[in-house]
Amino acid sequence: MGLCKLLLTLILISASFFYYLTQYTNLIKKYKCKYAVITGSTGGIGKELTSQLIKKMNVITVARNPAELEKIQEQYKDEQFKIVPFVFDFVDDLNTFSDKFDQFLTEKGIDKQEVGMCFSNAGYGDYKPFESYNYIEKAKFVQVNFDAHLAICDYFCKLFLTRKNTKSALVITSSALSHTPGKYFALYHTTKAALSSLGNALYAEYRRKGIDVLVVHPSSVSNTKFYQHKGIKAEGDKTMPVIGQIENSFIAVTPKQVVNRMLTRVGKINQSQVGWAAVSTALFATCSGRNIQGWIWSLFSLNDKLVK
Ligand SMILES: NC(=O)c1ccc[n+]([C@@H]2O[C@H](COP(=O)([O-])OP(=O)(O)OC[C@H]3O[C@@H](n4cnc5c(N)ncnc54)[C@H](OP(=O)(O)O)[C@@H]3O)[C@@H](O)[C@H]2O)c1
Repeated sequence: MGLCKLLLTLILISASFFYYLTQYTNLIKKYKCKYAVITGSTGGIGKELTSQLIKKMNVITVARNPAELEKIQEQYKDEQFKIVPFVFDFVDDLNTFSDKFDQFLTEKGIDKQEVGMCFSNAGYGDYKPFESYNYIEKAKFVQVNFDAHLAICDYFCKLFLTRKNTKSALVITSSALSHTPGKYFALYHTTKAALSSLGNALYAEYRRKGIDVLVVHPSSVSNTKFYQHKGIKAEGDKTMPVIGQIENSFIAVTPKQVVNRMLTRVGKINQSQVGWAAVSTALFATCSGRNIQGWIWSLFSLNDKLVK
């Protein structure tokens, strides 16, 4: 009888916690802000984020392509809240980000204190043998996929600490691939693992100082430009077998699922796996450790001929 009561209590607590996790956070009440910043706003996840956030607050869309940014601004011109584009290419000198963003806020008449959420989301994949590209290309990849997030965290953690009597949120898009090594995607795994570590460390450091940090780990995501990137294509623009095809496969999640996860979990937990494949990858990584995983991946000869 005692055991039954204990089990029932555990089930009730788990169900209540799950219910709490899946409810949307009232962003305006919690973060008392008028602006959210989204990097990678011209991509699949960024566009979905914009479409959901614009119903609640103004959105500063950060991306490198001015024409694409203008299109997004035009799309939402009749909304109650506005889109304010900021053009920045993360392959440029990241030392300039902070001054350029400050200048942009001043020019647009945006009070820094009104910016209370940031989604550090930009990134791309490059599927090729490690030895086939030079150090400069490697450094550029790391700059966009990790250093740029570091620059964003640096800027927004400092800004958010100055916001008085309110919380702020920093949401980072990592990947299920942060949990596992794999062939031909070495720097993608590396930068995403580093990004997840950074996010988790910042969560620990700032949780009680008013900054909610959340890292999301999606499995593959459908309807994005990620798989159109030339680094994911085989020679002659062929789709890379298996890798290029998982976008719309049974393991994929949608940008909407990723964004829903961000907007329900922010302020509640430090990281979230999006999709069953991401959950399985995280579980397997926890149970097996890196040694076994590396060995397993070394057995596959997937796309060996094509990537050479
Ligand atoms: N799609 C997936 O299967 C998947 C799975 C797990 C995690 N993720 C992660 O999710 C995040 C969002 O990607 P997505 O899926 O929405 O793919 P996406 O459609 O390719 O969007 C990527 C975004 O990052 C921007 N970006 C790339 N390089 C940049 C640079 N040098 N400077 C500034 N912005 C740059 C892109 O700008 P342009 O529009 O100018 O290219 C675009 O806005 C990425 O961090 C990605 O690693 C994606």
